[in-house]
Amino acid sequence: MSNLSVELKTPITGPYTQPTGLFINNEFVEGVEKKTFEVINPSTEEVICSVHEATEKDVDIAVAAARKAFDGVWRRTTPQKRGILLLKLADLCEKNLDLLAAVESLDNGKSITMARGDVGAVVGCIRYYGGWADKVEGKTIDVNPDMFHYTRREPIGVCGQIIPWNFPLLMLAWKIGPALATGNTVVLKTAEQTPLSGLVFAQLVKEAGFPPGVLNIISGFGKTAGAALASHMDVDKIAFTGSTPVGRTIMKAAASSNLKKVTLELGGKSPNIVFNDADIEEAISWVNYGIYYNHGQCCCAGSRIYVQEGIYDKFVAAFKKRAEENKVGDPFHPETFQGPQVSQLQFDRIMGYIESGKKDGATVVTGGERLGDKGYFIQPTIFADVRQDMKIMQEEIFGPVCAIAKFKDEEEVIHLGNDTEYGLAASVHTKDLNTAIRVANKIRAGTVWVNCKSNKDANPKTPSLPHLSRAH
Ligand code: NAI
Ligand code: MG
Repeated sequence: MSNLSVELKTPITGPYTQPTGLFINNEFVEGVEKKTFEVINPSTEEVICSVHEATEKDVDIAVAAARKAFDGVWRRTTPQKRGILLLKLADLCEKNLDLLAAVESLDNGKSITMARGDVGAVVGCIRYYGGWADKVEGKTIDVNPDMFHYTRREPIGVCGQIIPWNFPLLMLAWKIGPALATGNTVVLKTAEQTPLSGLVFAQLVKEAGFPPGVLNIISGFGKTAGAALASHMDVDKIAFTGSTPVGRTIMKAAASSNLKKVTLELGGKSPNIVFNDADIEEAISWVNYGIYYNHGQCCCAGSRIYVQEGIYDKFVAAFKKRAEENKVGDPFHPETFQGPQVSQLQFDRIMGYIESGKKDGATVVTGGERLGDKGYFIQPTIFADVRQDMKIMQEEIFGPVCAIAKFKDEEEVIHLGNDTEYGLAASVHTKDLNTAIRVANKIRAGTVWVNCKSNKDANPKTPSLPHLSRAH
């Protein structure tokens, strides 16, 4: 043990060594300013440990390491070798699945069952991009018989990546997978609420054999380290997932520095539409999963639920029963579905939205209060009879709180569904294929699920209806 690691334990894996330094050039190091910050266990509100904090100077060092690795090694590494390294990294994540999942539960508060699912998806994602590394092709273009004209895909260079706390490892995998597969080097900043799993993962990056500097992982805050990355003159691309206001800041920082390329993945307030003819039990299962999965801390959470008038009362009563069955509590209990929210700040934000729903006169069907007196636990909350103009119907809550409203017909629900600043996802429940396809095409959202919600490959209870999803 040194001041760059600490001995911790998790209830399912026992003792382990938690790195706490900044991972730069395949080594854990202290920050230049020797600052540290505390990491909180959201189940107990107690301090788990402290980690080293990257400031602007550390971002400079990490970017220089990534630049050197890009120019010196990585751009000359064969695609096949890049693929092999990613596949090795995926294998190591699989081998260490329990530890990665346990650290995720400890730091983020998500249930161990969900965390295992996340790490399984991390393995799948890194393996997928490992497979892509040597399958990137260009084109030849016939512009003139006397000319050989071709496109060649090249890496962008040094990629800055800023991720949030709701899926610490999965966000990391989604960001680094495609960047590394296509020959870029990376400086990734984890979220200040959840730095631990990324540092455990960093050890596996070194073990897999990635050359120093190819993937650097730093802990730190948005206004300092994050901002430095976004405005850095030697970062060629910035990828960000998080809140809309910060997304705007990132785009401005890119514009006013070196016009680096920008990818943003921001918020959502996704409609979940249930027609009279839906299989009500299955719809409730998916509606429940759609909003309460990951404690509602999902960009594509189905937080606006529109139910057709013929089944409205029956739906609300049955959904109340279902939501009250969700097991909320200790993330390490194997039956827990919902753990604590990630932080005091998020807890306070969500409780603020619950207060606003009550004040605006929406009906609290269930929940609406904190759960227990320690940890950031919130009861699964359903508001019914919510008007379209209420704050809880318009703004992203990012917690276990949903708003239900009644609709008459298809035309009305398409209007309501599209009445939002967002457009990330949506869901439609109906047994009529024509309705399903018409509504999926008319709702302005990137992904529309039919007879399911937030379905990647997980089933809340093995539904029997076929599931469709339309993406654009
Ligand atoms: P946030 O947008 O402040 O933080 C996300 C990441 O951005 C963190 O790594 C943070 O350090 C970094 N960051 C913050 N300010 C920055 C800046 N000025 N420059 C560069 N990087 C910066 O999100 P926060 O405060 O954790 O959550 C607030 C709300 O954002 C949530 O309630 C939710 O509505 C939304 N959100 C959406 C997510 C998604 O998956 N789309 C994930 C997390 C939050
Ligand atoms: Mg934490």
